[in-house]
Amino acid sequence: MNILIIGNGGREHALAWKINQSDLCKQLYVAPGNAGTAACAQNIDIKATDFDALAKFCLSNKIDIILVGPEEPLVKGIYDFFTTNPETAHIYVIGPSQEAAQLEGSKAFAKAFMDRNKIPTAAYREFDNTNYEEGVEYVRNHALPIVLKADGLAAGKGVLICHNHIEALAEFELMIQQSKFGDAGRRVVVEEFLHGIEMSVFVVTDGINYVLLPDAKDYKRIGVGDTGLNTGGMGAVSPVPFADAAFKDKIIQRIVEPTIAGLKNEKLEYKGFIFIGIIKVDDDPYVIEYNCRLGDPETEVVVPRIESDFVEILTAIAEKRVNELNIAISKDAAATVVAVSGGYPNQYEVGKVISGLEVTSFKDTVIFQSGTKISGNDIVTNGGRVLAVTSFGDNISEAVEQSVYMLEQIYFDEIYFREDIGYEFKK
Ligand code: AMP
Ligand code: GLY
Repeated sequence: MNILIIGNGGREHALAWKINQSDLCKQLYVAPGNAGTAACAQNIDIKATDFDALAKFCLSNKIDIILVGPEEPLVKGIYDFFTTNPETAHIYVIGPSQEAAQLEGSKAFAKAFMDRNKIPTAAYREFDNTNYEEGVEYVRNHALPIVLKADGLAAGKGVLICHNHIEALAEFELMIQQSKFGDAGRRVVVEEFLHGIEMSVFVVTDGINYVLLPDAKDYKRIGVGDTGLNTGGMGAVSPVPFADAAFKDKIIQRIVEPTIAGLKNEKLEYKGFIFIGIIKVDDDPYVIEYNCRLGDPETEVVVPRIESDFVEILTAIAEKRVNELNIAISKDAAATVVAVSGGYPNQYEVGKVISGLEVTSFKDTVIFQSGTKISGNDIVTNGGRVLAVTSFGDNISEAVEQSVYMLEQIYFDEIYFREDIGYEFKK
């Protein structure tokens, strides 16, 4: 099989690293990729949303499978673009149709889907220009804190948690009247705040059948102890210690099965991964959000724990044989610690030379790269999140300790990482 991965983050490096180990993979490409993917695949300089150029490349290089990493091409309809064109219809695209990708692309769509399918989630109302005044009243009378969500994709910035009504009303106005998050944010979901601990569940589906991948928990805040600004993710651990068999069973019965049944009943074509953000309130799971792809940095702990051939998983998805899959999962715990550029998630500099990447003498560690590129003989920083160092251990503490130790051997100017990933689960 010739495989093309789309994206350029640590998630795509982890996927390329895993797929490269499969005997079923002949040629592996990543568009556009990074310095890490260049070591296990061939990078192709095509943007993730340039469907015409991707199609041309796929035809001339006999690509059999396209694995889409980030949400943007999925929400923009890459699945339909390839499957409805007779020339490219034979290529397996791993991901949902554009309509089904709205589970991530539109918060209002996702909430209505959950309502129809009786999937537990926070109570909500949706507002736009047509019922703005009613929305103002609703926000004014809503219990605190109030969660405001821009309907469309907003690069992870579209969710605001407001702790007083003045702030909530001001933000509500900015979103709907001033297009704070662009046109897609002029529709707003106003949601009840749920108190609890979050985790991520990953579902492999062909739209009819499903299997679960290992679960994970990510750490979004920049500072130690989950403080400071939100980021794209500072680390992740897998498995999630508080997700015992009884809790997982509730997730399956109340959330995963009705989600898959909903896709099927509503004829939403979906051949890929569903990432369900779950919050545990007392002992009950609620959906915080759906994503139509794998998570980053969760993939950097989920994929390394999969012992089965990943290309077999991809072909089973495309051929609607997910019911035949029996995915073997390592008993080891995995943790990834993300090294970021100084200043991130605000302004930061790029182009810093990274040293110490050649330290590979630890068999239980893999260094995944995200914001990196090759510059002459060097690998240099090229983004906010730069590396995701994943380690295995008998438990989460051991795995985190090993990743932190490895990161202490790696250097670039103003490197920063959190040493306390998995702190709640410390032994
Ligand atoms: P989302 O982009 O929907 O994942 O939201 C970003 C983050 O906001 C989530 O990971 C949660 O930490 C938080 N969040 C979103 N919705 C709620 C809610 N209803 N209650 C509490 N926290 C929430
Ligand atoms: N780690 C969260 C995400 O990938 O959206």
